[in-house]
This record gives sequence, C-alpha cells and structure tokens, in this order.
Amino acid sequence: MATENPMRRFHVVIPCAGSGSRVSMGSPKQYALLNGVPMVVHTLRVFQSVLGLAQSVLVVAPDDSVMGDVLRQWPQSEFFVSHTGGATRAQSVLAGLNALIDKGVGPEEWVLVHDAARCLLTPALVEKLLLACFEDQVGGLLALPLPDTLKEESHGRVGKTLDRFGKWLAQTPQMFRLGMLQQALVSAGPSVTDEASAIENAGLSPLLVPSAAFNFKVTYAEDLQMAQAILSDRYRSTHSPT
Ligand code: C5P
Repeated sequence: MATENPMRRFHVVIPCAGSGSRVSMGSPKQYALLNGVPMVVHTLRVFQSVLGLAQSVLVVAPDDSVMGDVLRQWPQSEFFVSHTGGATRAQSVLAGLNALIDKGVGPEEWVLVHDAARCLLTPALVEKLLLACFEDQVGGLLALPLPDTLKEESHGRVGKTLDRFGKWLAQTPQMFRLGMLQQALVSAGPSVTDEASAIENAGLSPLLVPSAAFNFKVTYAEDLQMAQAILSDRYRSTHSPT
C-alpha cells in the first residue's frame, strides 16, 4: 500500500457510472473479470501502489449494487464509493470532485481523473504524469501521438484525409487542480468528453505527456480479450522462475 507523502499528495476520481453498451456484456464493463479479478480492481491496484495517493473516489450510478461487494472482496484502502454518477461522463466526474470537496479536500490539491476501463495503466505511467505535472501551472494528461493516417467519413466512404501531424489521442489519467477543474467542468457543461477539453474551454493549455498504446480504454468486446492477454503476459513475466 502507498504511504502518504505531503510533498506529492494526489487524489483520484474514477468515473464508473457508464453502462458500457459498446462492449455488449449485459453488465457494466468495469465488472468484467480479467484473470478472475474485476477490471476496476486492476485499475485501482495501480493507484494504490503509487506513493502519495490520498483519499480518492469511485463514482458509480445511483442504482449500482455491485461496487460495494467488489470492494468488500478486494479492499482498496484509499477509495470510497459515491453513488452520484450522472448521465454523462463529465457529470460523473463533477460529482466525484464535489464528493472530494465534501470530504474536505482543498481546491489546490491535485486530482487525477481516470477511466475505470483503462485497466492496463501502469504505476510507471502514473509516475511519469505526476513528475511532468506537479510543477506545472495548468496540469496535463497522458496522450499518444496519432500513429495512423486519419480519415474523415462521408456516408460510409472517405470524405477526406486529415493531416495527422501534431494530432494526439487523449488518454487518462488527466491531472488538474481540484478547484480549477471543478470550475472548468461547471462552465463547459455536461457534454465534454474529457477533463482537458473543459480546461481548454477555460482558455488554458494542458501539458501532453507521452503515453503508451497499451493504456487503451476497453470499449469493444475484442478489447477484453486483448486486455486479458496483456495482463496474463505481465503476470507470467513477474511470476516466472529466473
Ligand atoms: O463510455 P466511455 O467508455 O467513454 O466512459 C469512460 C468512463 O466514464 C468509464 O469509466 C465510464 O464508466 C465513465 N462514465 C461515467 N458516467 C457516465 C458515462 C461514463 O462515469 N454517464
């Protein structure tokens, strides 16, 4: 378990209130079992192992009856559950920030917002983001320079090819100060799809911190198989005899 260090304290908000309809599982994807452990537990374990983790929140749907059981079976000491998820991701994140404020977390504290479904995140990537952003005025996000050629669709065909130079894929965690992010999300409204967009709307430029392709978000059914394969491979390489 991580030990709190006031010099580099950070909080985490995990929005976990989506239905996961694109993964076609019948139940929210964060509860899919990977190596016998729910996806969200893999995600939480990463943060629990990073030095400086302070009180953090999992935002679930008001009618979620699963997360409580999951945390009883796989306890995560720094995380509490808030049944305040909204209709959009931005509303769920805002509810998570408000839950932290209710617990007494101050506006200058750093908050990392991370999708439950990016379960292949590593402690090293979190460290990289923390190191890059702690001294920054704005904050930033993990992101990946676009590796492929980018097409704009027109009625099922290529409308045009867009210039990929300078284009990045936004990932999570995204790291901002609590007060700044809360105000930015209130101003931006419920439809922004990531925290950085809200900060950009406020006229600021988040830092792009180069990430890795493996930090993808489990979105479609085949992503589950890929996540399973990578987790099994990591498990084998840390448990194989030397
Ligand atoms: O749907 P998508 O995969 O983009 O969702 C990203 C993250 O936001 C997921 O962890 C999902 O549970 C969460 N989310 C949420 N509240 C919503 C929609 C999505 O917490 N209303």
